[in-house]
Amino acid sequence: MTTTTTLADLAATSLNAVRILERHGLDYCCGGKQPFDQACAAKGLRAEEVLSEIERAKVSGDAGRDWQTAPLGELAHHILTTHHEYLKLELPALGKRMDKVHAVHGPKDPQTLNRMAEVYAGLREELEMHLHKEEVILFPFIEQYGRAEAQGQPMPFVPFGSIANPIAVMEREHVSAGDALSELRNLTNNYELPPFACSTVQALYQGLQALEADLHVHIHLENNILFPRAIALEKR
Ligand SMILES: [Fe+2]
Ligand SMILES: [Fe+2]
Repeated sequence: MTTTTTLADLAATSLNAVRILERHGLDYCCGGKQPFDQACAAKGLRAEEVLSEIERAKVSGDAGRDWQTAPLGELAHHILTTHHEYLKLELPALGKRMDKVHAVHGPKDPQTLNRMAEVYAGLREELEMHLHKEEVILFPFIEQYGRAEAQGQPMPFVPFGSIANPIAVMEREHVSAGDALSELRNLTNNYELPPFACSTVQALYQGLQALEADLHVHIHLENNILFPRAIALEKR
């Protein structure tokens, strides 16, 4: 790894790298194609220092599972059981909190709260459809690819020409979800609590930030590891 490696490749080295990039506000997810040194410069960070922090975390042994080499089906299973399950629980729960905050506090700041409710509803609907498409269409084929690789068999036929086609659609939807979360972050001034904040507003803001953090790791595992590995298998 060098300072000119892209953010996505650096993030793909370990989950510790992901956490460190996140802590520094470096977008390895939708902005992952950017070279690491340029992204650091834009944030006023010293690339060498961040890199050595990542190297040290590696040596300390808590690097988590290496998803670059783990069986592909295991990675798909991990994404489904960890990140998809999380969203299925959190999206409705946050929706309820959003509705409550909108109903109770809406008149105090209608411009912000109307737009927040609108952006959240769009994000939720899009993500629920996105999870469904991955689970019903894409992931079953990726799991078949993983099995074919493990057994040394040729890759199975896919009905959509190339696995790269549905992947491109999923990646576009990831960008759109990332945009909605950025807009929510901007609307709330980085989740700064308003003067009228009650415990529901606090829970909503905390929940949205947790959702954003989880979604970043989720999209990273798909965009930067799962999808490129599936495309590489197909090309083999
Ligand atoms: Fe997913
Ligand atoms: Fe996805």
